[in-house]
Amino acid sequence: MSSVESWPEPVVRVQHLLDSGIKDIPECYVKKPSDRPSLITESAISEMNIPVIDLQDLFSDDDLLRQTTASLVDSACREWGFFQVVNHGVHHQLIEATREAWREFFHLPLEEKQKYANSPSTYEGYGSRLGVEKGVSLDWSDYFFLHYLPISLRDERKWPKLPVSCRELVEKYSKEVVELGGKLMKIFSTNLGLKENYLQEAFGGNENIGACLRVNYYPKCPQPGLTLGISPHSDPGGMTILFPDENVSGLQVHHKNNWVTVKPLPNAFIVNLGDQLQVLSNANYRSVEHRVIVNAEKERVSLAYFYNPRGDIPIKPAEKLITEDNAPLYPCMTFNEYRLYIRTRGPRGKAQVESLKSPQ
Ligand code: OGA
Ligand code: NI
Repeated sequence: MSSVESWPEPVVRVQHLLDSGIKDIPECYVKKPSDRPSLITESAISEMNIPVIDLQDLFSDDDLLRQTTASLVDSACREWGFFQVVNHGVHHQLIEATREAWREFFHLPLEEKQKYANSPSTYEGYGSRLGVEKGVSLDWSDYFFLHYLPISLRDERKWPKLPVSCRELVEKYSKEVVELGGKLMKIFSTNLGLKENYLQEAFGGNENIGACLRVNYYPKCPQPGLTLGISPHSDPGGMTILFPDENVSGLQVHHKNNWVTVKPLPNAFIVNLGDQLQVLSNANYRSVEHRVIVNAEKERVSLAYFYNPRGDIPIKPAEKLITEDNAPLYPCMTFNEYRLYIRTRGPRGKAQVESLKSPQ
């Protein structure tokens, strides 16, 4: 797999730009007018919100209750590609503690964080950009990226040593979130008319799926109307289980030509479908574009867990979903090949998955 070894420009930590007391954000973060968030109209936009699903009944012995929850998940996947889940089985205290440990990490002195500075060859560690094209517009965020699965990629020495609780929390948090991911994969499989384990196996099987965490840190921004925390993109992998900052909204989902601001519920996860599920389901399910806006008063920390296929497994539309009337829409490709696009070019809406479609 070819990859680029170094960043095209000196890396600037967005968080530490602020320490220099700037009032105007540097030109490279200023988006062109059509890409800027319209902060005034957005807060006035309808009460629309992504669906909220209570997962409590998903594993009930009562077939009917189980089926009802599964169909709510199916409708949310088809209509939105995004939903919030409550009663998801991950301990609330653990989630909160993990997020606060990461907040502490980002508040450490720059020299400490720089020990984990990342490069575009693997993206693991402390980073501030996605994509390696020179002179492109940058997003108002820093992040930390790490692998949990497959085990061959897990290396706790690459995870922050400080705060001292961090590694243990990440380990426990990952275990519970990955378990939730496995349950959702079963629901998606049966909802699509596939065998319960189909998607999980297509991703590599339990210990072999790809599971990685990106902690996003969005510093306060003196000119939030000019920039974005993350530009529009669809997640390249399978599904994302996001713990947003329930006190600071920021995530916006593209729905029916509007940007809908998600109103996070306490202790809820936001689940969204990525490009690999669009490919495997032959576009019965679709990944959805989303972006993040920033604000002048509050920083924001979010935990994005990516539940992906193992990188070296060929992924293609499920045979069972291919019929005479439904030709395969996407060619076979490994996730390692697939994600080179976003890793090289940065977030570009749904350009990649749409460009793959084979002509009908
Ligand atoms: C991501 C993402 C949203 C958020 O990390 O891919 O879309 O709210 N994050 O931080
Ligand atoms: Ni995303």
